[in-house]
Amino acid sequence: MAMTEPTTTGRAPLDDREVRPRTAYVGRLEIQWDPRILEPRPWTAEQSRWAASLLTDLPPGPVLELCAGAGHIGLLAVAGTRRELVCVDIDPVATEYAAANARRNGLAAQVSTRTESIADAAEHPTSYSLVLADPPWVASAETGRFPEDPLRAIDGGADGSALAVDCVRTAGRVLAPGGALVLQVGTEAQLDGPVAAAGREHGLVEVERRVFERGVLALLRHADGEVSG
Ligand SMILES: C[S@@+](CC[C@H](N)C(=O)[O-])C[C@H]1O[C@@H](n2cnc3c(N)ncnc32)[C@H](O)[C@@H]1O
Repeated sequence: MAMTEPTTTGRAPLDDREVRPRTAYVGRLEIQWDPRILEPRPWTAEQSRWAASLLTDLPPGPVLELCAGAGHIGLLAVAGTRRELVCVDIDPVATEYAAANARRNGLAAQVSTRTESIADAAEHPTSYSLVLADPPWVASAETGRFPEDPLRAIDGGADGSALAVDCVRTAGRVLAPGGALVLQVGTEAQLDGPVAAAGREHGLVEVERRVFERGVLALLRHADGEVSG
């Protein structure tokens, strides 16, 4: 059997059969993915639902999804709205799927994708009313517990929070006044330590958190209480 290159997974090479697209259903969306990227996790629809409820009150402006993967979190958040969505991921396989999933679900007109890093996205205009972020959040030493997952999708550095901190920094730069960040991490300790410290440095403060069996979501707003003018 022909072998493909071990492009983005950081794991053993995948063969042709393994990289065939699969379908997941997230909320009312049909989402395709293959094992070169992270399989959409059903519970993450909670991040979309929280975002969608915030969008009804947030100022006008586009939504930025950092670490989009197959794109389902952002797509489900903006489905049924007129909000523009920009999906960012460093992995070109992920952004290809995110674009295809936007088309598949009739959302292509409002969705664009960019293959770039979290840090690159800090150069976008300061125009976003909402940033959604789902960075890798597993501590490097623990990634062996998830052999099916591409390493780059889950490895969050020594304490698992390195990429979450990058997301806070970027959100602090690109959020418009009155905007919000909904960030996914693995543990409350990550929020209480490195994320809170990054928030202090970049002008964002946690105002609410929601704890689930498989991860934690936090809402961060501008620390100075800026509201849209
Ligand atoms: C935990 S996965 C989340 C994917 C998707 N949101 C989901 O729920 O399946 C993290 C994603 O971050 C991307 N990523 C890792 N490092 C990145 C970086 N420095 N900049 C941008 N994206 C990155 C990975 O390619 C992966 O798609």
